[in-house]
Amino acid sequence: MKYLLEIWRQASPGAGSCFRSYVYETEQAGATVASALQDLNERPTLTDVNGVTDSKIVWACSCLQKKCGACAMLVNGRPQLACKALLSEQKKGVIRLEPLRKFPLVADLMVNREVLFAHLQEMKVWAESSVSVNDKNNALMYEASLCLQCGCCLEVCPNFSPTGRFFGMAAMVPSARLLMGLDSVSSKQLRRQYRKAIVDGCGKSLACQNICPAGIDIEQLMSRSNAVTLWHLLR
Ligand code: SF4
Ligand code: SF4
Ligand code: FES
Repeated sequence: MKYLLEIWRQASPGAGSCFRSYVYETEQAGATVASALQDLNERPTLTDVNGVTDSKIVWACSCLQKKCGACAMLVNGRPQLACKALLSEQKKGVIRLEPLRKFPLVADLMVNREVLFAHLQEMKVWAESSVSVNDKNNALMYEASLCLQCGCCLEVCPNFSPTGRFFGMAAMVPSARLLMGLDSVSSKQLRRQYRKAIVDGCGKSLACQNICPAGIDIEQLMSRSNAVTLWHLLR
């Protein structure tokens, strides 16, 4: 099968940018965007569709197993994991790849997602070793633990900006995991932070609901953790 990959090329944040097209052929039914990028970069010389020589494509990956979130990018306009996005599922064999737009660009398809981890630090999304975690909500806690911190949910969120005070679902999901397990005394500080950084800024439009590559049911988690935090507020 022959594909045309249109890839955003930009050497650095201030540099000029454009889409460059590359022909890619593979017989593998399970070929993904990530495997195509790997193969393009392994060519002795990378040339575009017009025969112009190009530098290697900058993109991020680590696990290649849909487990780390590093390869998140826009595939035909939709935030996805490159190692999960099958080439065969893209329409007409044309695949446009762009970096996530909500995060500072590093180069080409790679962005800097440090803000995700800064948000978790600021909210103090962790339990002290002396704290016990109940197992009443194990299924929900497990689901929340699947979050990859990929940022796909933030990409589609109209209320999220990396410099804003609304931290979005990438902070909600790990917070929900703790809020489901901690007693009211141990979760007091997290509940306060959650109300400030999540509840106050979320418009509840649920544009983020069906985008998560880990399949997390964001609506269910959000409604449960909002209930926990707001119920305590009313009490
Ligand atoms: S519900 Fe809407 S505002 Fe809230 S995080 Fe999802 S997309 Fe953003
Ligand atoms: S909730 Fe889903 S989309 Fe959002 S950061 Fe976690 S894994 Fe990614
Ligand atoms: S490389 Fe880890 S999720 Fe794609």
